[in-house]
Amino acid sequence: MGKDLTEIFSIYKNQESDLIPILQAIQTKNGYLSENSIIQVSKFTGVPESEVYGVATFYTQFRFSPIGKKHIMVCKGTACHVLGATKIAEGIERHLGIKEGEITFDMEYSLESVGCLGCCALAPCAMINNEVESKITLRNIKKIFKIKKKTIPYQNTKIPPEKLITHNKGK
Ligand code: FES
Repeated sequence: MGKDLTEIFSIYKNQESDLIPILQAIQTKNGYLSENSIIQVSKFTGVPESEVYGVATFYTQFRFSPIGKKHIMVCKGTACHVLGATKIAEGIERHLGIKEGEITFDMEYSLESVGCLGCCALAPCAMINNEVESKITLRNIKKIFKIKKKTIPYQNTKIPPEKLITHNKGK
């Protein structure tokens, strides 16, 4: 990737106790932790790469592959589940042409499911970047994503292989 992390490294001390804040800052900047960024963090902090990976994979907040410009988090917490979150997630998958954990070929949308988003009164809901979409129905999915299928060539594909960092969280 080669994204410059000098600015981030200038804010923190090169010590192990700053590892998590550094990883958080990189993810905020780049959207995910690339293999290269892990190597750079390892060099900066002196923590072995395997340990940096170990810490990053321990916390579910960290990602190891890119997300779309619009990252969708479908809530599958209890309240949303009771009100049909699974069907909503399937509807979004069908509409975007991707499955959970995938990204559209044009890198516009990525999709994941999460636990409670903290707005159960608005269930079933999802977040698109930082905005909550509430009381989603199968009918209003199209409106929410404002996608013209005719003009945007979505493909049922995973992240392009050259952009994918293969690292299985929790394994
Ligand atoms: S269960 Fe979905 S917001 Fe709480």
